[in-house]
Order: sequence, then C-alpha cells, then structure tokens
Amino acid sequence: MKKTIIFSAAALVLAACATQPKFDGPAYLNPNAPVEERVEDALSRMTLEEKVGMTTAQSKFSSRGVPRLGIPEVWHTDGPHGIRPEVLWDEWDQAGWTNDSCTAFPALINLAATWDKEMSMLYGTSIGEEARYRKKDILLGPGVNICRTPYNGRNFEYMGEDPFLAGQMVVPYVQGVQKNGVAACVKHYAVNNQEFQRTQSNSVVDDRTLHEIYLPAFKAAVQEGDAWAIMGSYNLYNGQYNCHNKKLLCDILKGDWGFDGVVVSDWGGCRDSEEAILNGLDIEMGTWTNGLTGAASDSYRNYHMADPYLEGLRSGKYTTKELDDKVRRILRTIFRTSMRPEPNYGRFVCPEHYQAARDISAAGVVLLKNDNNTLPLNVPEGGKILLVGENAVKKMVVGGGSSNLKTAYEVNPLEGIQNAYGDKAEIVWVRGYVGDITRSYNRVDTGQDLSDDRTPEVLIAEAVEAAKDADYVIFVGGLNKSHHQDCEGADRIQLDLPYAQEDVIRALAEVTDNLVVVNISGSPVSMPWADDANAIVQGWYGGTETGNALADVLTGKVNPSGRLPFTIPYKYEDGPIKTERQYPGIKEEGSPYWQTHYDEGIYVGYRWYDTKEIPVQFPFGHGLSYTTFEYGDAKAAKASMTADGKMTVTVNVKNTGEREGAEIVQLYIADPVAGIDRPAKELKGFEKICLKPGESKTVSFEIDSADLSYYSIEENGWKAEAGEFQALIGPSSEDIRATASFELK
Ligand code: BGC
Repeated sequence: MKKTIIFSAAALVLAACATQPKFDGPAYLNPNAPVEERVEDALSRMTLEEKVGMTTAQSKFSSRGVPRLGIPEVWHTDGPHGIRPEVLWDEWDQAGWTNDSCTAFPALINLAATWDKEMSMLYGTSIGEEARYRKKDILLGPGVNICRTPYNGRNFEYMGEDPFLAGQMVVPYVQGVQKNGVAACVKHYAVNNQEFQRTQSNSVVDDRTLHEIYLPAFKAAVQEGDAWAIMGSYNLYNGQYNCHNKKLLCDILKGDWGFDGVVVSDWGGCRDSEEAILNGLDIEMGTWTNGLTGAASDSYRNYHMADPYLEGLRSGKYTTKELDDKVRRILRTIFRTSMRPEPNYGRFVCPEHYQAARDISAAGVVLLKNDNNTLPLNVPEGGKILLVGENAVKKMVVGGGSSNLKTAYEVNPLEGIQNAYGDKAEIVWVRGYVGDITRSYNRVDTGQDLSDDRTPEVLIAEAVEAAKDADYVIFVGGLNKSHHQDCEGADRIQLDLPYAQEDVIRALAEVTDNLVVVNISGSPVSMPWADDANAIVQGWYGGTETGNALADVLTGKVNPSGRLPFTIPYKYEDGPIKTERQYPGIKEEGSPYWQTHYDEGIYVGYRWYDTKEIPVQFPFGHGLSYTTFEYGDAKAAKASMTADGKMTVTVNVKNTGEREGAEIVQLYIADPVAGIDRPAKELKGFEKICLKPGESKTVSFEIDSADLSYYSIEENGWKAEAGEFQALIGPSSEDIRATASFELK
C-alpha cells in the first residue's frame, strides 16, 4: 500500500514536469531559477556602463535598471508610515496624480507603544501591500534610531529609547513588508540621533555604546528580519560619513552581520566618490544636493557613483571587484522584488488597511494616569462632552518631513468622539490655544483653515466658560508636525508643551473634576500640570484612523494596553545630557563639522534614570488598563545555567479586575555584582497576554547568555560574567512585581 502511494506521487511529479513548458530563455529571466543563478547570469551579460548605471539615481525616487535586458528600474518610496504621493521626475513638486492617496498608518512610535509583535506584522504586511500595489520595490523604512534625546525631531518615526524593544518590534515589520516582494530599507544607519546639523554632525561614540544601544535594532532587522535594504544616514560616525563609513558598512553590516542586501544612501547623503565606491555604498540617491547642480541636463550623471566612477574604472583607478559586488546586490534586490517568481499585486486603501491602522493605533494609546476611574468615559444620556485644543481637529498626516503623506481621509479626535457618541451626547469643541496653522507640506494641502487671531486670554476664557457645565472636559493638545516639533530637519527646543497649553490645562482644572488630558506627540513632553488632570492619555500620530482609535480607548471599546516606549522625565535637566558637547555638539574651529560626544555612554533613557535613581514623571514601559493585574512569584527553572545553556523564568499573571484586558509583562535583567559598570536593569523580554476577568496565565521567558552580556571593548565582543543575575518582572521598568535570582556558571 505504502509503495503504491510513493509510486503515484512520483508519477504526479513526472506528469507535472511533462506539462510544464521548458524555460528556454536566459537564466536571469527564468522565474524558477535560484536567485543567485539569475544574478550571475544577468551580471555576465552587462556592459560596464550598464553596471555603473545601476548604482545611481535617475530621478527623485528611482534608480536605473538595464533597459536592453528588460531588467526594470528600481522604485523607492517613503516610508515609513504610508506610501508617499508621487512627485515629478526630478522635482519635489507633487505630480498631481489623483490615485495616490494612501492609507496613513500610525507613526512608528505609536507602533512601538503597542509592545505587540503581531501588530508589527500586521503593520508591515499592510504597508507592504500598499507599496506593492503602487509598484514600489524599496520602502524607505522602518526607522530604528534610538531616542537619545527627547528633542530629536524624528523620534516619532522611530521606535523609542530601548534597543531590545526596537529590535523586537522591527523584525515583524520587515518580514511583513518583504513577504509582499517589497524590500524594507531600514534607516538611518547609524548613530543618527538628532536633526540639528544632521549633515555636518559627527557622532563620537565608544564601541560598547555603539553595540549595546545604537546597533542592536539594525542587527535584529538584518539577522532576524532578513532585511533586504539599509539606508546610510546623513551624519558622520567617528569622522567618516555614514553613507560610506567603512566600519559601519564593510566591517559590521556586510562583514560581521553577513548582510547580502543593498545599501542605499540617504537622499544627497553620499559625499565622496572614492569612499562610496570602496566603502560599501550600493545605490546613491538624492538630487540637486551637495553642490551637484552643474549639469545642464541629467545631473545624475555627475553623481559620485555615476560618471566619476566610470572614469575611475576606465583609467584603472578602480577594478570591477567593488562594482560587481554592488551590482550583484542590486540585481538580488530586483529578483527579490519586481522580478520575483510569485505574482503579487498588493492592495491599496481598502477597509482591511483602515481597520489595521485603527487597531494598531488604539493598541498603542497609553493610559498614563486615571484617578478615580475617570476613564473610560461614562457619559449620561444627553450629557455634554467638551473637547478643547487644536489637536482635537488638526489634520496631522500632512507634515513632519519625508514621512509626509497624502491620505485618503483622516479622522480627527473630535470626529472620533462624534462617531462614538452620535447624538447620545452633546459634543462641543473650542479652540483653547492657537498652535500651528500651517495647512500644507510639500504641496500636500489639508484644505483646513486654522487661522484664528483671538488672544490667548480670550481663548482660555471661552474654554473655561464652556467647561463649566460639561460632564467631561477632554483637552487634546501636545505637539504637531511643524518645524521644531515632531518634524524632520530640525530638533525641538523645549520639553514643555508649546503655545501656552499649560495655562489652558490649569484653567480648565479649576472648573471641572473630570479633566482628561490627551497629549498627542511623538516624543516625551514634560507634564508639570500632571496633578491638575484627572486622567492623562498619551496619544500619537495615528494616521488615517487616529480619532477613531483614540475614541476606542476613551470610550472603553478598547481596554488600553499601550506602554511607554520612552521615559517621560519631570524636566529635561534630569536626563543624561548635561553638556553642549553631548548635545547638540560643538563646532570645531576651522572645521565644518559639529562634534557630538555621546559621553553618557550606555546610560540612555531608563538606563540613566533608573541607575542614577532619578525620579521620573512616567517610567519606560508604564501604562494602565481599565482592569488590574496581579503578579505571582517569579520562578527560575533551576538555580544556575551555563554559558551555552538556557534558563526559563516563569510568572503567573491574573486579571483581578472586572474587564477583559491585556497586560504587557516585561522582563528586565540585572547584574547586581558586575566587574564593569552596568545599568540597574535592562529589558530582555516582553509578552502581551489577554486575560478575561479572573483568568490567569503563566508567562515564560527563555534567557540565554546573550541576555546577560555586555559588549567588552577589550575583547571586541559580547561577554557574560559568571555570577548572580536577577530576572525582574513587572508592568514597567519601575514597577517590579516579581524577582528570581539565578547564577551563571
Ligand atoms: C530622509 C529619508 C527619506 C529620504 C527620501 C531624506 O531626507 O532623511 O528618511 O527616506 O529623504 O525622501
């Protein structure tokens, strides 16, 4: 009987082979040939000019293919929150397409705040589908630069202050994007942690800090996510520009990590032909930058890796060794994306993507404070909800720099509350303050006129009056996507809320006992008014569905489970950055560069506050729920582990409240007796669990010696010291509920 089955299977295979027509074209066109075979075959057919042609941009967002061989050009797109609207071939102006309004997904900091890897997979899959539908091959995202300073204008595009969290969250995003045949281009590699003087600033970082804080998320994206593309950053690291930084690209990325994908420059980030050619840059992107404006037409031919490269090859200055390596990587990218065998057409602006945007955004909303169960809202029939603040109505998908999007629609917080309550309650909005009235960015126009010339006094008086008879007052403020806020190209200039919002909050607190403050921002703001608010919610730039997602949490439709991906300090001065040398850096006399010394080393975010015992407003990992959770004792499976062994630590968590809810159970590791300075604790695991009232679950974490290690400068590698370690488990970096000790032999 068994034999018969084997026979029939073999017969089926033979029959299939017989019916499949033999591919008689060149191997590179054979969709069933292995990628490396296709690469070598295509390479062997190309002229020198065709090869060099592939290494430079040909338009704002595309680089050359090989037209003679039918190898398509490569289309790049921002990223990272949605698919950027089409611009003209060689202008930043909008191309005026009417079919390029995308689904705007939440900002990446919102995704990080979900602490939910499934949400990251949903995000990557959905945005990858949108990219594929729009025929894009490389998505310029995600960004994983660490939030070193709350002032960094691009913190909202990144995944917070902790390398482990960012590393865990980036992997599913990359995998989700790439399963659509779109390369994720992880950016901005590396130590690019400020916008101030971003193209002239040299990050001076020691090796331990580099490996422990700034590289792990990139490494995870490459080694665990198998990312197909990396973008070099604008800044310099240890004196060399990062788009052609030998140590970062050749030694670490392509050497140690075995990256076989393509390195793309940031736009205009390539500065030097020889370095770019020799130090691992594969595609030079960007136009009319860096003084390269000389050509009457097709300025791209002047680019560092275009004609100068060709001349260098012809004169014998360079050999084709580096060129062939670059072209192999570019071809590999093409065979993985536009010429890959599996057909895939993606999908765009569909209900599934809107739902994904809403679910992800809601899952990241963080309930910071909730005195006397102010939330969820419990509005009496015919009651009144007052919303105060510009961010309740301001459209925020537009703005912020290259992540600026043209979206199919955008639900603001006021509309979200209106959608939730319909005509069951009276919903009133008043302005409260005038912040940023800009309505367009990169010629994408919101069509929203927010101009208002009333004085702050008049606006506050109006808000106070309206608040007096309201059942709930919801202040929706924070930052926005304009210059010096959460925006590319410049940093923030203060930790406090701008536009006298603090005065509005305090005035409202005088007249209501139901004041909910919703702070919408992509980086921490100080909250000296925290005691005045009955509840505080950290919201984000949630994209298309931002208002509905926020309303889901405020109304209790979604029980909040978002957790802070960064620390909210009391004040800026409490943080690790104390000197100008550290931030924004010091301009050296006679040099065009700013030297930014990362003197705080590994003490970034909670690693600093925790170790130095500096109290904070809200700690990293913090977030409340509408239910409560009780932690049992943590149990280490055994008393000790060996360097090549593993240790399991378990904890039981019970929902002790009356609602179903999700808890993010966090594991931190402490090395109490160490021969070297180590942070008080470091995040090494987290798990999101959903529990019904009364239900409990056991969460188990597997620890290996990598989780116990630090990066040793002397040994140029990771090292775990033998001795006692502690597994600390709880709902935030400050709230440790269970501890288990074990020994590393
Ligand atoms: C940004 C990148 C972006 C690129 C293309 C640059 O200015 O730094 O993040 O992908 O522009 O728009």
